[in-house]
Amino acid sequence: MTSHFSTDSHSSHKSLRHFLDIKDLESHTLRHILDVAQAIKHMQKGRQFPLHPRAPLSGRQIGLIFSCPSTRTRVSFEIGIRQLGGDSLVLSTQEMQLGRGESLADTARVLSRFVDGIMLRTTDTYALYELARWSTVPVINGLTPHSHPVQIMADIMTYEEHRGSVHGRTFAWVGDGNNVLVSLIEGAVRFGFTLHIATPKDMKPPQKVMDWAHHENGSIKWTSHPQEAVYGADCVMTDTWTSMSHTCQDTCKKSRHDVLKPYQINKALMEIAAPDALFMHCLPAHIGEEVTAEVFESRQSVVFDEAENRLHAQKGILAWIFGGKTWRSWGEEA
Ligand code: CP
Ligand code: NVA
Repeated sequence: MTSHFSTDSHSSHKSLRHFLDIKDLESHTLRHILDVAQAIKHMQKGRQFPLHPRAPLSGRQIGLIFSCPSTRTRVSFEIGIRQLGGDSLVLSTQEMQLGRGESLADTARVLSRFVDGIMLRTTDTYALYELARWSTVPVINGLTPHSHPVQIMADIMTYEEHRGSVHGRTFAWVGDGNNVLVSLIEGAVRFGFTLHIATPKDMKPPQKVMDWAHHENGSIKWTSHPQEAVYGADCVMTDTWTSMSHTCQDTCKKSRHDVLKPYQINKALMEIAAPDALFMHCLPAHIGEEVTAEVFESRQSVVFDEAENRLHAQKGILAWIFGGKTWRSWGEEA
């Protein structure tokens, strides 16, 4: 499979089940991850965790490394790992020697001696792939400036809970061409749905990602007109206009906001989507900027289901990584 970023030069651990980007996995594996996630969710709703002597993380320790803030990612990983029988350790890069210049190669090799897996949220995309290149334990992408794959797994799970299979549906993305959008493009290709993107001309998603999607026969279209993207869509999505990786001061923020103002999701825009369209946002939201309070609080909005499904989708991913050969049946048998 093609890669926008390369982890190639240190090749001895290629067989590890990293979860770096949606495009790295086959469609059938991604589908099974969500099936397992759904099964685990039902099981969890029925009774208490920890469950099962074969719990996939039984006796395992996962390092959760953050170089920038998080509410959902941190809490859902910590709780999910515990519910699957494991334990986690939260580390901030500022408190690690990494923050004083220790190399990623050495950090990865040291941590691999202590923990069974690493989740990284970073403001430096290269750091994720470099960590994975040197790590001898699986690495999970918890957000980079380039992508946010665990979020999109939760979003697809959420859409399907409400409306059935995403296959053949049309999603619309309106706003900044950011990290969440990159993973949504990859999700559209792998799960087989159409994606209409509306961003300002200078905030398009990376051309490499669009080229990859077209090469994979994805049904992805870009326009600068929000109405064109949203017309008839089954799901309308947006995100903050200023991501954590934008080192934006007040003037830069204002100019981004001026350019993005016509891309706000409001009632008038939702009215041209399909009548039963859902509204999604990964959160945190900035009400009155990328979305109005009216849409955010409307019956079409499933943003808190998305937030909850971070927990369940990530447990599906953890079961794939750590559940061994029986990971597919995990959830059915407990
Ligand atoms: N959506 C998301 O990743 O939220 P956090 O930044 O709170 O982790
Ligand atoms: N695009 C946002 C997502 C936050 C979860 C950011 O990178 O800040």
